[in-house]
Amino acid sequence: MDKLIQQRQETINLNAGPSPLPQAALLTAASSLLSYPETPGMGIAEISHRSKAFEGVIHQANADLRQLLEIPDNYKVLWMQGGGLTQFAATVLNLVAWYRIKNQTKPEEEVEAQYVVTGSWSAKAAEEGARMGVKTTKIVDGKKVGGDKFKTIPEASEWQLNASAEKKPAFVYYCDNETVDGVEFQAEGAKAFPFDKIDKDVPVVCDMSSNFLSRPVDVSKYGIIYAGAQKNLGPSGVTLVIIRDDLIVDLDAALPYGGARVPSMLSYKNMAANDSMFNTPPTFTIYVCSLVLRSLLETPPLPLASGARPLSPLSSYADKKSSLIYSLLDAPEGFYLGTADKDVRSRMNVTFRLKGGEALEKKFVAEASEKGIKGVGGHRSVGGIRTSIYNAVTLEQVEQLVEFMKAFQAANSN
Ligand SMILES: Cc1ncc(COP(=O)(O)O)c(C=O)c1O
Repeated sequence: MDKLIQQRQETINLNAGPSPLPQAALLTAASSLLSYPETPGMGIAEISHRSKAFEGVIHQANADLRQLLEIPDNYKVLWMQGGGLTQFAATVLNLVAWYRIKNQTKPEEEVEAQYVVTGSWSAKAAEEGARMGVKTTKIVDGKKVGGDKFKTIPEASEWQLNASAEKKPAFVYYCDNETVDGVEFQAEGAKAFPFDKIDKDVPVVCDMSSNFLSRPVDVSKYGIIYAGAQKNLGPSGVTLVIIRDDLIVDLDAALPYGGARVPSMLSYKNMAANDSMFNTPPTFTIYVCSLVLRSLLETPPLPLASGARPLSPLSSYADKKSSLIYSLLDAPEGFYLGTADKDVRSRMNVTFRLKGGEALEKKFVAEASEKGIKGVGGHRSVGGIRTSIYNAVTLEQVEQLVEFMKAFQAANSN
């Protein structure tokens, strides 16, 4: 075991997802795989999801998540399978049914959904929405304003919102942090999501897969928040869905109004009615998530210069870690070139290019790897460099990354 821990200590894992998990949680998970304290002789992955022991796990995980995000009582927490990609479809199928029932639509009536496209993942979500038969309108197309690149979020005044339209969309969809492009909605100011511009009756759906639990969130502003676990929460295999009660409907009740037949596994109502155990859930993944949630609750906030305590320990670390890297990207030499506009850059996925070009980028990735800094190549669709600094990447590790970047710059500047 000591050797394995040492290997971890020699490694800075900056993969974009799946990504590193807190070591203490992994150690507990490893021993619980062999024998879970409440079921001696049987590991946590070897007991029924209907057992008291597992019910205790999911119950505590729900309570901890509710505490961390201050989730209001009129929201359900669902643990679902199929990743973010499945939610691209599930959100549409459930909310179109909700809309059809609410408006008693004629079967042939088209239902609209509005997508705020600020990066590769929201673009994919809009495509899947169209496949599900909804009329998708892109009220923002980041690529159009970013010179064929996702790098910016236009001011809300430029969004193609049509608040006065008689017919409202079933929902407005956005992605809070675009993992591939390093573009993130900000917590406040002109580049925060403009909830005040969205009609109060129209639910906002948000993909928070890659910045979940990295800052406080006012859940009451959302209809649905979802997040794949495999960045900030746990191993892959489970997707958290936080949904307002009134949006949960019986999907078959929408059939007379033109609703589609939807697989039972995608029905939020089924999941809610069965406490996320409509079928066998990924018990081990959920168990690891429960350990990570515990460790997040126990993380002390970073002391701020002013002495004020930040709202959440999570955002204090994310702000500090990302600003260390961005300060290099902002240096006058221009050796490292940030790809996202400064006012929308991500605290989770710092994306940049090297002025020296692709060959130097390859050298950067190779030398980083030799130093134990792994997973820094940009997404295959965009290239360049991406350092993903999710919650389990420590401040000390980011400081080491920055030291490496400084040394690389010094050795490769002419
Ligand atoms: C923001 C975002 N949404 C959706 C996805 C797709 O998630 P999954 O692979 O779990 O389906 C990803 C994957 O990295 C992501 O980063």
